[in-house]
Amino acid sequence: MRNFKLELAKLLSDKLSSLSQEEIYGMLEIPSNTNMGDYAFPCFKLAKELRKAPPIIAKELSDHIGEVAFIAKHESVNAYVNFFINKTLLVEAVLNEVLSQGKDYGLASQKDKGNIVIDYSSPNIAKPFHVGHLRSTVIGHSLYRIHEALGYKCIGVNHLGDWGTQFGKLIVAYKKYSSKEEIEQKGISELLRIYVLFHDEAKENPEMDQEARDYFTKMEKGDREALELWKWFKEVSLNEFQRVYNMLGVTFDSYNGEAFYNDKMDIAVKELEEKGLIEVSEGAKIVRLDDENMAPCLITKNDGSSLYATRDIAAAKYRKDSYDFKKCIYVTALQQNLHFAQWFKVIEKLGYDWSKDLVHVPFGMVSMEGGKLSTRAGNVIFLEDILKEAVDKTKSIIEEKNPQLPNKEEVAMKVGIGAVIFDDMYNNIIKDIQFSWERVLNFDGETGPYVQYTHARACSVLKKAGLDLNNIPHFKIDYNIISDDATVGIVKELAEFSEVIQSAAAGYEPSYIARYAVDLAQAFNKFYHDNPILVEDENVKNSRLAIVAATKYTIKNALYLLGIDAPLQM
Ligand code: ARG
Repeated sequence: MRNFKLELAKLLSDKLSSLSQEEIYGMLEIPSNTNMGDYAFPCFKLAKELRKAPPIIAKELSDHIGEVAFIAKHESVNAYVNFFINKTLLVEAVLNEVLSQGKDYGLASQKDKGNIVIDYSSPNIAKPFHVGHLRSTVIGHSLYRIHEALGYKCIGVNHLGDWGTQFGKLIVAYKKYSSKEEIEQKGISELLRIYVLFHDEAKENPEMDQEARDYFTKMEKGDREALELWKWFKEVSLNEFQRVYNMLGVTFDSYNGEAFYNDKMDIAVKELEEKGLIEVSEGAKIVRLDDENMAPCLITKNDGSSLYATRDIAAAKYRKDSYDFKKCIYVTALQQNLHFAQWFKVIEKLGYDWSKDLVHVPFGMVSMEGGKLSTRAGNVIFLEDILKEAVDKTKSIIEEKNPQLPNKEEVAMKVGIGAVIFDDMYNNIIKDIQFSWERVLNFDGETGPYVQYTHARACSVLKKAGLDLNNIPHFKIDYNIISDDATVGIVKELAEFSEVIQSAAAGYEPSYIARYAVDLAQAFNKFYHDNPILVEDENVKNSRLAIVAATKYTIKNALYLLGIDAPLQM
C-alpha cells in the first residue's frame, strides 16, 4: 500500500539534514483531532541544534515545503507542522490495497519467516478447566494467528500438566473414595471431588501424603498399575478439555505435556551437572541464581523426583531441537513469573544463546463478579458451564431482538462464545478482569457482539445490493465522491490494520487487535450513519459499497486473529 507517512518522512528528511528518515518516521504523530491534520511533526527536538524556538522552526519548515502532490494542505500550529493528506489519493491507495487482497487482507500468504512455538492452554489433568485457563487458551490461540498473519509458521503446544506428585494423591484418593463407574459418569468433577477429599483428610493423616509420594515414585519407575490409572485419568480429562476446545474452536499441533519429558530429564540434569551448575542442598539439586537476585531453581527433590522447572528445561531443549524456533512463547498467569525467569536463566547459564528467544507472556487474574475461583475450595466454576451459559443468554437475546433469524443455534454459539473470548482480550492482558455478564454480552458496548454485529450489518448491506458475499465483484469507484470525513475516517482505520497486527505481535498483546476491531466498527457505523448506501445513483452506490466490502473483510479478519467467528447475520 502506498505509505503516506513514509513519503512524508522522506520529504521531511530532505529538508532536515540532522534527522534521518527513520527518526522522522518515528516522530510523526497522528493527531487525535482531525482538524489538526492526518500527521503532525513536532519541532521541539530541533530547537537546540537550530537555536530557535520550536514554533519558529515549525513556521519556517512549513514555508519551506511548498506544494506537494500528495499533501492537500500543511500549516504550522505552535510547535507542530500539521499535514493534511490529499483525501482522494488516500482513499484510492487504501481501497485498492484492501480490495485487491479481499478475504486475505492483512494475512500473509506465505509462512516463510521461520518457526514460532507457542505454549498455551496447558491445563492440569484431573483438574477443571476454569476461567483462568481460558485466558491462556484464547490469548495463545490469538498470538498463534497473529504470528501466522505475519508469515511465521506456528506450532501450538498444549503442555499438559500430566505429571507430578498430585497423581500419586489421585491414585490414593481413587482407591479410597471412588469407583470406575463414578469417574466414568462424572469425569473431572469426580476427580476433583476426591482430590479435595484427599487434601482434607491428609491434614489429619499425614501418612496419606507418604502413600501418595510412594505412588508417584512407582509411576516414575514405570509401575504398570499406577501408570494405567494415570493414563485413564488423563483420558477422562482430555475428553472434557476437548469439548471446551471444540466450543472455542481452538486446536493444537502437539499435546506433548510434562509426562512426555520423563525420559528426557536425566540428560538435562546430567548436562547441568557437567556444566557445573548444580549444587546439592539437603539432598535436593538446585541451580543457584544469587547473582541474578533470584531464589535458586529447583531441579530435583531430595527423593530424586523431578520438578516443574526440570520438565520445562527438558521441553525447551526438545523444542529447539525439533522446531529450531525463532521464538518460544509461554502464555501463563503472572503468578508464574518467577518460575519462568528462573529457568530461562538456567538455559542461559547452560550457554544456549537461544535463551533470548524464550518469551514469557503473563496475564492477570479473572474473578467472577465477586466470587473467587480456586481448585481446592471445591466451589469452582467450570469453563464449560460459562460457555454454555453465554450461548444460552445469547439465544434469549436473539429470541428477543431477531426471532426470525435462521440458524439461531449456530449464531448464538458464535456470538456467545465470541463475546467471552473478546472480553478476555479487550484490555491489556496483564490486567485482572472481573467477569461480568452485563458487559460481556452488551451489543452496544465495546464488545465482541458489537463488532460481530457491525460485520453482519455490512454483510446485510452487500446482500441487499444483490451481491454474492462469496464473490464480491470489483467495484467501479469514483474517488471524488467518497471524500467526506466519515469515509476518510473509516479508510484511515482500514489502512492501520497491518501496523496494528505488527504491534500486537511485538507487544504480545491481542488486545491491540480487539481495540482496533472496536475502532473500526465505530468508524464504520459513523460512515454508515452519514452516507446512505443503497441510493439511485450507481456511481455513488458502488463507490460506497466498496467501502462496505473493504470493512467487511477487515473486521472479519480482525475477529479471526482473535479466534472469533463472524456470522453473516445476527
Ligand atoms: N500446567 C500449568 C498450569 O496450569 C501451565 C503450564 C504452562 N507451560 C509451561 N511450559 N510451563 O499452571
